[in-house]
Amino acid sequence: MKQGDAVRGRLEAHWARVADVDMRQLFADDPDRFAAFSLSAVGIFLDYSRHRVTRETMSLLVDLADRSGLRQMIDAMFRGDKINLTENRSVLHTALRNRCGRDVRVDGQPVASLVEGVLARMRTFTERVRSGEWKGFTGRAITDVVNIGIGGSDLGPVMVSQALKPWWQTGLRAHFVSNIDPSHLVETLAGLDAETTLFVVASKTFTTAETMMNARAARSWLVDQSGDDAAVMRHFVAVSTNTERVTSFGIHPDNMFGFWDWVGGRYSVWSAVGLPVALMIGMDGFEQFLDGACAMDEHFRLTPFEANMPVIMAMLGIWYNDFWGAETHAVLPYDQFLARFPAYLQQLDMESNGKTITRDGSQASCNTGPVIWGEPGTNGQHAFYQLIHQGSRLIPCDFMVAARSQRPLGQQHDVLVANCIAQGQALMRGKTEHEALQELLASGMPEQAARQLAPHKRFAGNRPSSTLLYRELNPFTLGALIALYEHKVFVQGVVWNINSFDQWGVELGKQLATALQPDLTGDNRVQNHDPSTNGLIDTIHAMRQEEDDD
Ligand code: F6P
Repeated sequence: MKQGDAVRGRLEAHWARVADVDMRQLFADDPDRFAAFSLSAVGIFLDYSRHRVTRETMSLLVDLADRSGLRQMIDAMFRGDKINLTENRSVLHTALRNRCGRDVRVDGQPVASLVEGVLARMRTFTERVRSGEWKGFTGRAITDVVNIGIGGSDLGPVMVSQALKPWWQTGLRAHFVSNIDPSHLVETLAGLDAETTLFVVASKTFTTAETMMNARAARSWLVDQSGDDAAVMRHFVAVSTNTERVTSFGIHPDNMFGFWDWVGGRYSVWSAVGLPVALMIGMDGFEQFLDGACAMDEHFRLTPFEANMPVIMAMLGIWYNDFWGAETHAVLPYDQFLARFPAYLQQLDMESNGKTITRDGSQASCNTGPVIWGEPGTNGQHAFYQLIHQGSRLIPCDFMVAARSQRPLGQQHDVLVANCIAQGQALMRGKTEHEALQELLASGMPEQAARQLAPHKRFAGNRPSSTLLYRELNPFTLGALIALYEHKVFVQGVVWNINSFDQWGVELGKQLATALQPDLTGDNRVQNHDPSTNGLIDTIHAMRQEEDDD
């Protein structure tokens, strides 16, 4: 029997006792509930009082974390042990933001000087570009930065750059090309001047098909526009772990910013992959971003689990996933600057914990990573919140909002905050059919019509949500917020006993796409695949033929 099994049994028994408890009742019974089920860390305030949990629930969940070996795994990760077993790698994104001088080593070698060396080069380079000292092929300064990357080499830089737009240098713009769909690159280049455009080709491996094809196409565009191969030197830099491939692409090693195999792609925004962010907000801002993450690392490492924000958020997720059968988790930032945060978290969480084989090679005994989804509020309220409020599924939600707007306008920010807080309130409180009926009658509706309508206006309530508040969305807070979710994902992976740091599940589709591509380029009928695949390829050929015949 595993260490956590006994406590799981206790949690199951506890679940049966509390499954029917109403949150309204929990608040009524405990005047201190808000204080008891909330905490602050690194400028982030978490209210988790609107959950279907009691003090006993939380203590059992913390016990489960404990018995899952979480303490040992935290120490192992921060120390640099090779906890990414299937790739035999350390997991050290925390070393990229180790601002308090912990001694971190990989294979006995300290990593701090490597990290500092790259940060120093990033500083020199970004200052040259931002000051206009770095010139394009006609001697003009850079005005547009185009990051070409995908997955972790895109989602982090996009999300963070967009979130920190108020810190962008005036006159400098950022663009992001990820999709192999040629429209993405073509549309982006259409608005750009080659003389003043800098491309950052970001790829950990420098082999990813989408990134390489887009980078080659961008390179041809630049050479066509400049009429000179030598222009590449001034307009292309690379971020990668693979010097050989960067060099053979034609980017000089002086224009390459490295990182290491102990940084996972989806954890890489803290490395040179953050170069577009540093170009846009400056290196001082980028270092504040690292500082925020480091402060969250220290909170995570040193705080007892019962007061540890990532652990609490993770264990609430375990509660709903493992014991209530929740399938999804919604992330709902009431912050337009965080518009890409849910997409970023999708990779972070789903690529990390979307697995069914445990660290010891056996089948996981329960569902693992939930489906992560979301959109900024208030937009989502007018789209999918209907289902969260009245649908048949239990969907735990994370709401988040800043106390102060970066772009104040009249009372609009107050309205935004009111909506954010009210949504959690509505989910928690609900509205009984009786309350709905009374409201309808009070509005003057005839009784029969009111009785018919009231069931439709009933909200079951008792639906869980967390609310995260922060003073303003700045580089430090954003760093802390991302690190908070990274550690939440890590804790859940430990409790499910899965390796959160590999991603074998992305391989098969890539392999098959490579095999299919020649069949799409030709126009012969295909018979070498399964009937569905053959049929789809033939239909594409037929559609192309129709266009040609028109
Ligand atoms: O296909 C998935 C993936 O390997 C991600 O894990 C990674 O972030 C992305 O592709 C991009 O990889 P690279 O940075 O090597 O181009």
